[in-house]
Amino acid sequence: MRTKLLVAASAVALLAGCTSAGNVSSVAPPSARDIAPAPVLLTAEARDIHSYARPAEARVTHVALDLVADFTAQRVGGTATLDVQAAPGASAVVLDAKGLDVSRVTDAGGRTLPFAFGAADPILGSPLTVTLNGAERIVVHYRSAPGAAALQWLTPEQTAGGRQPFLFSQGQAILNRTWIPTQDSPGIRQTWEARITVPAPLTAVMSAEALTPTGEAVPGGRRFRFRMDQPVAPYLIALAVGDLRFRALGPRTGVWSEPSVLDRAAYELADTEKMVAAAEGLYGPYRWGRYDMIVLPPSFPFGGMENPRLTFLTPTMLAGDRSLVSLIAHELAHSWSGNLVTNAAWSDFWLNEGFTTYFQSRIMERLYGPKIAQQQIALGWDDLQTAIADEGGAGAAGTRLHLDLAGKDPDAGMNDIAYEKGAAMLRTIEAAVGRLRWDAYLRSYFDRYAFQPITAEAFLADLRRNLVAGDTALERRLMLDRWVYQPGLPANAVSPPAGAFANVDAAAASYVRGGAIPAAAWRDWTTAERLRFVNAIPRTQAAARLQAIDEALGLSAVTNSEVLFAWLRLAVGNRYAAAVPALERFLLAQGRRKFVAPLYQALVDQGAWGRPIATRVYARARAGYHPVTSNSVDAILATGA
Ligand code: BES
Ligand code: ZN
Repeated sequence: MRTKLLVAASAVALLAGCTSAGNVSSVAPPSARDIAPAPVLLTAEARDIHSYARPAEARVTHVALDLVADFTAQRVGGTATLDVQAAPGASAVVLDAKGLDVSRVTDAGGRTLPFAFGAADPILGSPLTVTLNGAERIVVHYRSAPGAAALQWLTPEQTAGGRQPFLFSQGQAILNRTWIPTQDSPGIRQTWEARITVPAPLTAVMSAEALTPTGEAVPGGRRFRFRMDQPVAPYLIALAVGDLRFRALGPRTGVWSEPSVLDRAAYELADTEKMVAAAEGLYGPYRWGRYDMIVLPPSFPFGGMENPRLTFLTPTMLAGDRSLVSLIAHELAHSWSGNLVTNAAWSDFWLNEGFTTYFQSRIMERLYGPKIAQQQIALGWDDLQTAIADEGGAGAAGTRLHLDLAGKDPDAGMNDIAYEKGAAMLRTIEAAVGRLRWDAYLRSYFDRYAFQPITAEAFLADLRRNLVAGDTALERRLMLDRWVYQPGLPANAVSPPAGAFANVDAAAASYVRGGAIPAAAWRDWTTAERLRFVNAIPRTQAAARLQAIDEALGLSAVTNSEVLFAWLRLAVGNRYAAAVPALERFLLAQGRRKFVAPLYQALVDQGAWGRPIATRVYARARAGYHPVTSNSVDAILATGA
């Protein structure tokens, strides 16, 4: 393997100067792997302002990690060996690093190479410049900082089993530079491999092919080896370590979790194999081999994260009735939109999330029928209206799809606009050209850009070339530039059919007018219907009315995380004290940012009533949150203090 890579790397040096059409410079290894080269886009729009890398001069093509996970020191440490392709005359490669402690850098033969850190930026970290001295492979000896934002080190008490510690990583958007010294830009795709040594009773899993599923005994613990031969954006390198078991769900699907969670996880995720087949039926072959998932401890800051071959999941999706599996449809859809065709920079995050949200509802429709899908589209449409209002209205810059993130943490610029306005744009195109033509286009789009970065500009050009194809009336009707570059919702936006929630909307309207609480209907409603109902209740409610509905529907005792969240937000917004114990339990039991941050915000918005509750709960909860979540909550509590 090593020799083969060396050969590939030197063969490639001859190609480094080649530039093919469309400003795409093809400089990836041609022979060692059977995937087409991973070009880096060099257009102005594709420039990634969140990375220090200068890929036109030198780019990383392959990362080989050899790391020990030290749970006592809360550090990973060892080496990252990087294959680098340098343009003729380039003398150095620039990597991204944040908080990394680098002891030395050598070439493949062990000869020391000079390296230097540039000034640290609070968001981006520091450029790490390594002088190549002709090397095509460099070895970075380093360890991560104890507070590395990509990593969360959990004590045994923070796990379901309570006996073993746990570690997981979260790379998106720009966090992997806190534990991997590489070019941390989504437009610079890299193949990778890893050896991870962990304490003996623990299992390591990664977003790659597992070469040693049960590990190998080595001095100091067990070692697990992994390989990802398809070039991926480096934010997709992910690791989890804990007391983990695996359960197969189908021939190419399965789930990992702590032992005590495995039965519930396998029940909830039983349809996954069918989802993969449904997705393939829509937009072409699943190209990653296996599709496994891992259910993480409750501090996982997201609902799901689409790490290739191994989606990371919150346990709050284990509703017990499979009612939240659209999350799986979403993360699976990223295997096409996001992982196969990837936003070149975070300013086009909507290309990942908008396409995925659209694709997600198509999978749901195939598997569960049009009514379920329409209901979810309707919920998303409501979220979109809320997101536009939250951004400051239809004229606000934050409601554009293509974002200007200059000076911003990409993580902070990401909201429901990318998801729901993005999906609405694609549904609008679908309505204009018909599903048959649109699906044929999308399928060909995924084939054309497989394993490549994409920008809004490139997508629009591709759409015009392959779908609009000179039809000027269609071009006018689609308003493509308006969708992507202007704020708000274009006039041609197709809203979801009104009838998706007819029964619920009627019951809600009657209740709002002073009619009865629909307690009997509620018992039969699905999670989506319950959400629709709770969200239809006017935001200002008298305490007596909240108490009546809480008692009639058992809202404070609801176990479904989405419904509980919707209720708690309403309750906090009205200073409804009886819900505070449930709120406190919820904030202490899980750390999903989508739930946690808005609830703290709602408390802070309630000033003298809410802020003391927020401060009191956060004092106990903060240590259990992932840095992604605690950074957001820190910012919320810091305002107007
Ligand atoms: N890729 C995202 C998670 C993400 C977004 C991580 C931005 C870091 C920065 C993932 O696919 C996602 O969108 N998750 C959603 C669930 C989805 C059903 C909307 C979540 O976590 O809530
Ligand atoms: Zn997503």
